[in-house]
Amino acid sequence: TEENKKVVRVWCDGCFDIVHFGHANALRQAKALGDILVVGVHTDKEISKHKGPPVFNEQERYKMVRGIKWVDEVVEAAPYVTTIETLDKYNCDFCVHGDDMSIGADGVDTYHLVKACGRYKEIPRTAGVSTTDLVGRMLLMTRGHFSRGDKEYYVEKEGSSSMGLDAQARSPYTGCSQFLPTTQKIIQFSEGKEPKPYEKIIYVDGAFDLFHVGHLDFLEKARNEGDFLIVGLHTDLEVNRYKGSNFPIMNLHERVLSVLACKYVSEVVIGAPYTITADLLKHFRVDLVVHGSTSVSADKNGADPYALPKSLGKFKVLSSNNNMTTEKIVERIIRNRLEY
Ligand code: CTP
Ligand code: C5P
Repeated sequence: TEENKKVVRVWCDGCFDIVHFGHANALRQAKALGDILVVGVHTDKEISKHKGPPVFNEQERYKMVRGIKWVDEVVEAAPYVTTIETLDKYNCDFCVHGDDMSIGADGVDTYHLVKACGRYKEIPRTAGVSTTDLVGRMLLMTRGHFSRGDKEYYVEKEGSSSMGLDAQARSPYTGCSQFLPTTQKIIQFSEGKEPKPYEKIIYVDGAFDLFHVGHLDFLEKARNEGDFLIVGLHTDLEVNRYKGSNFPIMNLHERVLSVLACKYVSEVVIGAPYTITADLLKHFRVDLVVHGSTSVSADKNGADPYALPKSLGKFKVLSSNNNMTTEKIVERIIRNRLEY
C-alpha cells in the first residue's frame, strides 16, 4: 500500500558556485528519481584544494542551493569524494550526478566508491550553460574593459576566447553562446498554479541577471508580503537600455529558468513592461508592487516606472539587507582573473 512504500532519499553533491539553471535542472532530475532530495555542498577550503577558489563563499552557496525549489535538505561541508559512509549517514539510497567526469586533485573519479557499490545514477547535463561558460561571458565583455568607480580594469581577451562558445546561439550583448530554450523546459520548471481568489498577489520586476543571493533574499521578503509572487522580467533590449555595457549576461529565456527555479516564485512574466501600467495591475490582479532598495532608472520618457502603483498606495520598498549585485559578480570575476 501507499503507507508502507519506502521513502526514497536521493543524494546529490557539488560546488554550486555561481548557481545557474543547469544546476537547478540537475536537482530537478535528481528529485524526480526519489522522494526526498538531500544536497551536499562543499566548503571553500575543499573546493580550493581540488579546483581553485570558488567565486562565492560557502555561506552564499549554501543559501543559493536552499533557495532551489526541488531541494529538501542541504548538508553543509559535504566531502569532495562521495563515500558510502556519507550516503548512510544521511540515510540516502543512492547518489545522482551529471554525465560528465568529476575528477579530484589526485586524478581519481570522485564517485568511484558509490559507483563500485551500485549506488550511483547519472542524469544528462544541461548543454549550453556552466560556471566556466558564465565566467567566459563576463570576461568577454566586448568593450574589453570594465569600470569600477574611478578605476578601469582591462581584461585580456586572448585565452578566454574559447570560453562560452559551446552552443550556436549568440547574444548580441556578450557575443557569447547561449542555451537553447524550449517550451518543454519551461513546463518542467514552472509551478503551473493559478492564484486562488482570496490570495494576496505580489508583483516585482527587474533584470534578475545572474540570479544571486541578493535576488534570493529580496524574493523571500517579497513573498512574505503575500501568498502568490509574480516576477516580471524585462526584455534583453530593455535591460541593455538601462544597464548599458554588455548587460544582460544571461538572455531572457535563461533568466526565466533561473527565476522559476526559485522556491518563492509562483509565476514569471516573460518580457514585462518597464513601466507598471493599469492593464498589468488589472490583468494579474496585483495587490502590491514591491521593489528592493536598489536605485530605479527612469523609463525612456524620463518617467518613474512605479508612478501608478505609488499613486494607488500599492507600492512598497523592501530592503533585502543584502548588497550583492550583478555588477559585483562581474567585478569579483575580473578581480579573480587579474590575480592569477
Ligand atoms: N550540472 C548539470 N548541468 C550543467 C552544470 C552542472 O547537470 N550544465 C550538474 C553536475 O553534473 C552536478 C551538479 O550539477 O551533478 C552540481 O555540479 P557542480 O559540482 O556544482 O558543478 P560542475 O559540474 O562543476 O558544473 P559547473 O561547471 O557549471 O560549475
Ligand atoms: O537589479 P535587478 O533588476 O536584477 O533587481 C531585481 C529586484 O531585486 C529589484 O527590486 C532590486 O531592488 C532587488 N534587489 C535587492 N537586493 C539586491 C539586489 C536586487 O533587493 N542585493
